[in-house]
Amino acid sequence: MTDNGKRFTVLVTDPIDREGLKPLSDHPGLDVRVELNPAADKLQSLLADTNAWLVRSETKVTAQWLEKAPALRIIGRTGVGVDNIDVAGASRRGIAVINAPQANTIAACEHTWGLILALSRNIPQADSDMKQGKWDRTRWMGTELQGKTLGVVGLGRIGREVAKRGLAFGMRVVVHDPYISVEQARGLGVSLLPLPELLGESDIISLHVPGGDQTKGLINDETMHQVKKGARIINCARGELVQEKALVDAIKSGHLGGAALDVFTKEPLAADSPLRGLPNVILTPHLGASTTEAQRKVAEELSKGILEFVERGLARYALNLPGFDPETLEQIGPYLELGEKLGAFVGQMLDSGLKEIRTVFRGDFEERHRHPVSVAALKGVLTSILAQGVGFINAPILARERGIKTSDSIDPAILEGYNRLLDVVAVTDQGEVRVTGAILSHAPRIVRLGDLVVDVRPKGKMIVLENQDQPGMIGHVGTLLGKRGVNISDMRVGRHAPQQKAVMVLTIDEDVSPDVLKELGQIPGITGVRWVRL
Ligand code: NAD
Ligand code: MLT
Repeated sequence: MTDNGKRFTVLVTDPIDREGLKPLSDHPGLDVRVELNPAADKLQSLLADTNAWLVRSETKVTAQWLEKAPALRIIGRTGVGVDNIDVAGASRRGIAVINAPQANTIAACEHTWGLILALSRNIPQADSDMKQGKWDRTRWMGTELQGKTLGVVGLGRIGREVAKRGLAFGMRVVVHDPYISVEQARGLGVSLLPLPELLGESDIISLHVPGGDQTKGLINDETMHQVKKGARIINCARGELVQEKALVDAIKSGHLGGAALDVFTKEPLAADSPLRGLPNVILTPHLGASTTEAQRKVAEELSKGILEFVERGLARYALNLPGFDPETLEQIGPYLELGEKLGAFVGQMLDSGLKEIRTVFRGDFEERHRHPVSVAALKGVLTSILAQGVGFINAPILARERGIKTSDSIDPAILEGYNRLLDVVAVTDQGEVRVTGAILSHAPRIVRLGDLVVDVRPKGKMIVLENQDQPGMIGHVGTLLGKRGVNISDMRVGRHAPQQKAVMVLTIDEDVSPDVLKELGQIPGITGVRWVRL
């Protein structure tokens, strides 16, 4: 029951396994309404008294819909990606977001292998011929997998399962995942490669990374040129990873031997999409998670989460809300936010295997507050690299699963002018990335990047440039961005001494294209370019 004695209303707007939802529909205190794909006016009236909203990937839970749902307290997503949910908007309203990330891993892995085999042996094409009365044993000559190279991009839950099965097929398996350490890869029997090398060496390239700014257009015109001639690409992750025009052009020119796609930039795929007309491209309508077993499991997991929320007021696996008592939250709320922002910043500065996350407390922090703040930092780091939602509860579990050590410590050395400082340090295969922050005027601030002094509000879209301090640098950067129509709303510079290592942090209004980032990297004296979104 809700506070006003009404039954707790659960709205389901995407197809979710009914059997798995039975614990909810059988519960006397719950009113479960299933309204698939409702028209806008119908959805608006349903949301007026909805307390829990359950979706798969079709429904887009946008800020506009959240506004129309005054009684909404929890959103449940069957599956991994919460990219169809405005999680930040939900957090602002105190609405918990839960998902069921593990239940469809095997389904997505097996679908990937279904596509790899179908593509290698032309199974759908031969089947279509047969159904048209033909019998052609020469046209659909296939290729074997044994002895070939499988390139797995993203060694998360699904990528790992795909890699294991590749080894079982007698393939050499190479992996690109900047956040996996060399030891972890070795433990799985695979080798890590930079993306260009993986693309150049693999016969089959299978994508398993999250969607989002950092991976959008991972396969584009330029990276397509790095792909080995005749290779095949499988995308069972997110449509936006592949620029569809680049893929169509590469197939038509014969550079790419084939592709199998389960996900698309815009879903449903347009009826007249050029992809539909290519004989060596296999398409499935986002079926990766569509097995009876996975759909049952995701629905059961969600049902458990909703019942726990209704009966015990707990959103234990919420991706967005910490389960701390209100008093603790009030005392450390700003430091939780600071920890998470610093973690997210660090996560987007990494480019080699992540081994450890250290949180260092400097100044007057209570012992009992250290753990939650460290978890917030870890959550920030992992959120920027994983597809599944990361919450306060699952962040330490996910870190353990990925072999990432965590630690927190006190350092009595405080910097002049500050009472409390927090360092988030990522230890990687190639060294440390350290970011230091403080709460200034009740808001988080980054005050050191490594050992360079800065003063940055960790908010919005940023370009972080590492450079050699030299005359004209700011002018060069400003002129280039001006020419490309990029508006700078804030610019911060940090350096040790004239002519030494320096850093520029530019906050900008709009997204910038990878081309602009590349041009920035070509300015003499610029030694590193990062795109960070907080
Ligand atoms: P995960 O979070 O467990 O793994 C993602 C991996 O990608 C991590 O190891 C991370 O380190 C790595 N990564 C992040 N950025 C990277 C980059 N730029 N380059 C290389 N590696 C990078 O996620 P998962 O559960 O394995 O899911 C993988 C993908 O599959 C996601 O996009 C998810 O949404 C999608 N998915 C699709 C279906 C479907 O129906 N087709 C079903 C389930 C999941
Ligand atoms: C996911 O992120 O879990 C998938 O895209 C599967 C789905 O939409 O069901």
